[in-house]
Amino acid sequence: MSGETGYDADTVRHAAETIGMHAGDAMTRLFPDGSAGMPSVAKDAIWNDWESFAGLAEELHRYAEGLALAADNAPASQSDTKSNTSAMMGGSDMMGANSMMGSGDMMADDTMGREELAEMPANAVFAKVSDTCSSCHTRFRAKVK
Ligand code: HEC
Repeated sequence: MSGETGYDADTVRHAAETIGMHAGDAMTRLFPDGSAGMPSVAKDAIWNDWESFAGLAEELHRYAEGLALAADNAPASQSDTKSNTSAMMGGSDMMGANSMMGSGDMMADDTMGREELAEMPANAVFAKVSDTCSSCHTRFRAKVK
């Protein structure tokens, strides 16, 4: 996505499908009650606010599926992908913040459905995927010392 190698839709689609398979319930079932503590850096906030944690895991699932669908929409120009991506990251950061405010907003964000994501350039959907990774890490994953 940063334009260092040529864009390959199949590679992006397969990677997105792999991420999707490990998101949602497949992800949250790896965090059973009582699994906090070393060597895990998962924060207690996961179990204190399970709904938000599971919401982000589900959001990752949705965006990964969207990226698989959008894989054929190659970034328009490899040369300005870098600046585009960071601009979009900025925009979607704010979306991430909104969606973390509560499940109500998360529902509103659901208007960005599969069909809509499927029409977007792959790098824009990728920005949403990676924004979801960092939203969850910021909130639920302690820094590794
Ligand atoms: C729903 C929340 C959530 C989402 C979404 C999420 N992560 Fe994580 N991730 C975590 C938590 C919590 C940990 C810490 C797990 C532990 O230490 O037990 C973690 C750990 C990791 C680790 C370290 C694994 C290790 O062996 O210590 C990597 C790498 C990682 N995540 C990558 C990603 C990427 C890439 C994405 C997006 C495609 C992503 N994560 C999305 C919650 C999430």
